[in-house]
Amino acid sequence: MGLVTLPLEIARETTRKSTEQARLWCKQLEEGNILLFPQAPIALETAEDLQFLLGLEQSRSVLHKNLAYQSATDRIVGANLCSANSAAHARLRGILRSYSQQVTEFLTKFLTPYQSHWQVDYTSFRAIEEQGRHLPLRKRNDLLHIDAFPTRPTQGARILRFFQNIHPTRPREWIIGEPFRALAPQFAPTHIALPRPESAWMQRSRNAACRSGMGKAIPALQRSSYDRFMLRFHNFLKENSVYQSQGARTAISFPPGSSWMIYTDTVPHAVLSGQYALEQTFLVAPQAMVAPEHSPLAVLESLVGQRLL
Ligand code: SIN
Ligand code: FE
Repeated sequence: MGLVTLPLEIARETTRKSTEQARLWCKQLEEGNILLFPQAPIALETAEDLQFLLGLEQSRSVLHKNLAYQSATDRIVGANLCSANSAAHARLRGILRSYSQQVTEFLTKFLTPYQSHWQVDYTSFRAIEEQGRHLPLRKRNDLLHIDAFPTRPTQGARILRFFQNIHPTRPREWIIGEPFRALAPQFAPTHIALPRPESAWMQRSRNAACRSGMGKAIPALQRSSYDRFMLRFHNFLKENSVYQSQGARTAISFPPGSSWMIYTDTVPHAVLSGQYALEQTFLVAPQAMVAPEHSPLAVLESLVGQRLL
């Protein structure tokens, strides 16, 4: 497991690449590798846009956390940025909208097996220095964890993330751990209970709650046993001081101007330092996997000995 480094020419040639090559990249991601472009294949539209983003940190009082853009609604969410400055708000929205579109267009050609099998999720701008950030333990990103969203259960869809370090001079420093299929059997079921297969009745009730809109208001109603396990595992890893201090890990330094792709539900990761990153999340349908046996769902099903969903 590790880093697969791709020169920029590969990104430029993607349209001429064979399906076989694209399947190999998907497989490498699904196995728990990170695909790294030392030079990002995507650029902000203008140098002024970059300067605008780098300048946002200075107005820290309006920037409480990572800023997120939701393409489905064309809205900035999760921050009260610039409520007093609607021009800055509109500009930020335009930059993130365009970035989201560019990443989606690029990955549509680059990871062809996933084409139209994903839901474009949030685009985030991470303007805050990661080193020494004060966050509640379960929200800390400097502790090794797999991603599981408390408010957006995925029902088995995979969390694929495309990051870009837009800091002009500094790397973004990560550590990564052993992938899910090696990690889960170390702790489940001895330290953390495995998910229980759901009855047909339970699945029907959950689907009905989602259809009626109740699931949106109460994420717990939408969570399958898979989602509940992934959330518990996320919390368990962050709270486990032995794993945090002694678990297997590899350090990775993402240079300024680089971008990388990773399944963050499979690869435990933590960011130790770095400032100014863009990130686009995709929720990829389980049917699109080229190596489904590596997915957390398949690993859990083999540990449980039954289908979960
Ligand atoms: C995370 O997904 O845990 C944080 C990664 C980053 O912002 O570099
Ligand atoms: Fe994470």
